[in-house]
Amino acid sequence: MLWSKTEKRFKGTWEDRLDGIFSVGVDYTGKSVLDVGCNMGVVAYEISKLRPSLIHGIDILRPHVETARMIFLGSPVESRFDCLNLGSPRLGRILRPQYDIVMLLAVYHHMQDSLGPGKARSVLSDIVRRAQTIVARVPPRKDSELIDVLSADGFSVKNAHVSPLGSHVIAFERYEHSKSVS
Ligand SMILES: C[S@@+](CC[C@H](N)C(=O)[O-])C[C@H]1O[C@@H](n2cnc3c(N)ncnc32)[C@H](O)[C@@H]1O
Repeated sequence: MLWSKTEKRFKGTWEDRLDGIFSVGVDYTGKSVLDVGCNMGVVAYEISKLRPSLIHGIDILRPHVETARMIFLGSPVESRFDCLNLGSPRLGRILRPQYDIVMLLAVYHHMQDSLGPGKARSVLSDIVRRAQTIVARVPPRKDSELIDVLSADGFSVKNAHVSPLGSHVIAFERYEHSKSVS
């Protein structure tokens, strides 16, 4: 019973969630990485195997953040995991001025649902102005919306990948520096 009847609330598999992030031409080694909506840190842990200089994860769910902290006890990579609603005014105090790479994996549409479209947009802008590269995963048919939003914030598409389940993994690169935090 325990094996056959276990109900999974988790959507997809870790394999799906990782699909594409290592094949869009982004080199994580030696880079500072912000994982927005980091969940339990499993994706961050896979990135940590490539030895980034640091990983900063943020998620609203405390058990998930605590799991991420536990996982990273076994990693030599410098890390920090914060339990925070991305709509909180504390966000600006927690974020570093700059990150080499910001991971936005299956999270922007959740931000839009939980914060409302206007607030989600302003929070996204505050996050991405600190980034040089963005790796985003968006559901099918949501890719053009994110491309429009991020191009208004100074990013262009560098590479893209479509997963077997149809989600789009897109790597963006900053094409102008005026909006970045100095
Ligand atoms: C679909 S999951 C994606 C998780 C992870 N990025 C991945 O690809 O495996 C969305 C994550 O965003 C988090 N999240 C959603 N809204 C949030 C908010 N307003 N503030 C912080 N985290 C949020 C959820 O708790 C969840 O872990």
